[in-house]
Amino acid sequence: MDLDRVKQVGISAAYKGADVLQSYFGNITRVNKKGAIDLVTEADLRSEEKVVSTIRAAFPDHTILAEESGLKEGTLEYSWLVDPLDGTTNFAHQVPIFCISIAFAARDSIRVGIVLNPINGELFTATRDGGAQRNGKPIQVSSTSLISDSLLVTGFPYNLREIFDQIVVRYASCLRAAQGIRRLGSAALDLCYVACGRFEGFWEQNLKPWDTAAGSLIAAEAGGRVTDFSNQSFRVDAKEILATNGQIHDEMLSLLRLEENI
Ligand code: IPD
Ligand code: CA
Ligand code: CA
Repeated sequence: MDLDRVKQVGISAAYKGADVLQSYFGNITRVNKKGAIDLVTEADLRSEEKVVSTIRAAFPDHTILAEESGLKEGTLEYSWLVDPLDGTTNFAHQVPIFCISIAFAARDSIRVGIVLNPINGELFTATRDGGAQRNGKPIQVSSTSLISDSLLVTGFPYNLREIFDQIVVRYASCLRAAQGIRRLGSAALDLCYVACGRFEGFWEQNLKPWDTAAGSLIAAEAGGRVTDFSNQSFRVDAKEILATNGQIHDEMLSLLRLEENI
């Protein structure tokens, strides 16, 4: 598979989605609920249509798993994972922190990741074994080794009420140890911000493959370490993600261990 072509198609799909999101931003008249706190807007749906149709036109045989329309099975072993708007709650509240996240995989291995922030034009990309870039320039994770000098970021899943105690215990132990914690509201951007050294670490539970596929490759290719909370290599179907600059990884793992922090 020609990964340069894959990347170009993915980037062009992301820009088409970005045009849609820009035109809807600040002009949303109706917000629907997929769950009690899980929103979907016209912008999610229209962005997804543009992204999916762009990929389909270039690669009609590939499988596409997209958040709002589900799985379109292809005949080959290649697949795409699409989040047409990561940060819908921000978007619905006119908070300008959101992105489009697109990943390409060969069997189970993510090969290309693309995350585009339509508001400030930041484009994060990575190809497996080819490094990660921000607007075409190489990026790398920070070299901070002390958790007390680390700025962390996390997110809260839509089923947080079911696992509320775990979330609070983990949040409290990281808050006690770190310089600060942010909650941006877009897991894909959180991972890219670890990749380019703005944050030292990101953790979250119960994300979906389309949230993490692109960003986890971008963070890893920027020199970061990406695992679950038991230090197993991250897989997009994992229930937990911890992405760090590597330096603070072991300490973060112990901060996230429930038995040690209750
Ligand atoms: C959400 C965002 C958020 C994270 C949620 C995700 P969505 O994705 O990534 O930061 O905390 O768990 O579901 O719904 O805006 O695409
Ligand atoms: Ca998402
Ligand atoms: Ca989404």
